[in-house]
Amino acid sequence: MAIRDIVFLPEPVLRRKAHKVTDFGPELQTLIDDMVETMREAPGVGLAAPQVAEPVRVIVVEYSEDDDDEDGASPEKKKPPKLYTLVNPEITRFSDEKVVGTEGCLSVPNILGDVNRSLAVTVKGLNRHGKPVTIKANGWLARIFQHEVDHLEGIIFVDLAEKLWKVEESPGQVIKDNV
Ligand code: NI
Repeated sequence: MAIRDIVFLPEPVLRRKAHKVTDFGPELQTLIDDMVETMREAPGVGLAAPQVAEPVRVIVVEYSEDDDDEDGASPEKKKPPKLYTLVNPEITRFSDEKVVGTEGCLSVPNILGDVNRSLAVTVKGLNRHGKPVTIKANGWLARIFQHEVDHLEGIIFVDLAEKLWKVEESPGQVIKDNV
């Protein structure tokens, strides 16, 4: 595994529609392993292949759904974050109910923005071996999937944000929800 360079706006690969994956061979397996390592190192909770300059339809997401419990669970009760790898993902259902949340993106450093998105989604795609998977996601996890699938269409959260602002870079500051 290797950490790959994350590309930033206005890198053209971020604005291209990514290609469908048809070959599940070693090259794809290496890309997925590298994306997971790159996401963890960043650190981020999601990464799309165009963000490492590969214009293909692959996303990785690592998030604990319990992270949504703000008042809630003690750390011991939290589930460990779950890793999702999706090839050729498609959102097949968007809830009518929407919610505004603050997003950041590893490809747009030091910018945050409020984006209105569906509270729940159903995502279908293939796992790394080409087997069909369906994921029902709520809350932050649903937001992350919407953000990552947008990347495959060349859409960046800054295009959708109602409000954008700069964050001061300060030592030790980590925006854990970058995607
Ligand atoms: Ni992003």
